[in-house]
Amino acid sequence: MNLLDHLVGAGLVQRNVRLDAQTTYKLGGPARYYAEVDDEEQLMTVAQAAAEHDILVLGRGSNLVISDQGYPGVIVKLGAEFSWVEFTEGEVGAGAARSMPSLARSCARQERGGLEFLVGIPGSVGGGVRMNAGCHGSEIADRLTWARVVEMRSGEVAELKPDDLAMSYRDTNLSPDQVVTAAWLRTDREPRRVIEDRMREIVRWRRAHQPGGTLNAGSVFKNPPGDSAGRLIDSLGLKGLRVGGASVSRKHANFFVADRHATAQNVFDLVAAVRERVAEETGIRLEPELQFAGPFRGEE
Ligand code: EPU
Repeated sequence: MNLLDHLVGAGLVQRNVRLDAQTTYKLGGPARYYAEVDDEEQLMTVAQAAAEHDILVLGRGSNLVISDQGYPGVIVKLGAEFSWVEFTEGEVGAGAARSMPSLARSCARQERGGLEFLVGIPGSVGGGVRMNAGCHGSEIADRLTWARVVEMRSGEVAELKPDDLAMSYRDTNLSPDQVVTAAWLRTDREPRRVIEDRMREIVRWRRAHQPGGTLNAGSVFKNPPGDSAGRLIDSLGLKGLRVGGASVSRKHANFFVADRHATAQNVFDLVAAVRERVAEETGIRLEPELQFAGPFRGEE
């Protein structure tokens, strides 16, 4: 029996857990092993037992496509204990599982401004730090003071500043084994009404420009330097392009929407097809922002 199977016996790890409900695309097969952990110690216990396996830490699944065959390793989810929020003079701290929109609303209630943009990013604080999430001219790097990062396989814990994380547009230097468990962000004292007006404007703009209410995972590609992936894809007439149940949104060309019949492979193939067309026609190789987990046909 391997160490993970011992943890299955102890109830900390489960086998063959469906993941579709845990991503915004609502697609994909089961995790071979799945653990929801309550604290950093449990996270390390699972990671160390999984020495022979790939591990993927799942946030809110808002940027993720899980393979139709499922994930052959271990999916770890930070549980509700990682959803705390705490205010200090000039800063807010949050557990990595806290959703960014919920953090934005908590800040507004406490008259803490500067993080309104988080209302427009439906991911977790941990995922937001990892990919330096942003919108409306702001990004996490602008506000982050430090993040608590656990190297889950070795058990090393560090408090890292934006410079340590080499934060750039939608990127950091965090490896898959480094898990953000909490983040502290600077806030400005401002009237609740002013903060809420700004949040309302962001929500209004998103409703007008992005295909909310559909199955999607936000922007599929990062923007290439000096241009916009959505504009490029649109300019090639690719809105509405379809592979099976996945299609390029007619509202915003950098959003790919899944319908009831879509498979994860459909999304993968659509991303590859659009990437190829854009490269052929413009010479630009778009880099996906969307993450694929598990096996896909045609992977490089
Ligand atoms: N555009 C088109 N056709 C389209 C879509 C866009 O011509 O189908 C044009 C727009 O008219 C505009 C330009 O492209 O002139 C840029 O579009 P938009 O303002 O929608 O911004 P974006 O660059 O596509 C970025 C972020 C979004 C974020 C918005 C708002 C990236 C990859 N995307 O989108 O982030 O919400 O700005 O700040 O940086 C995400 O990362 O998941 C995400 C949704």
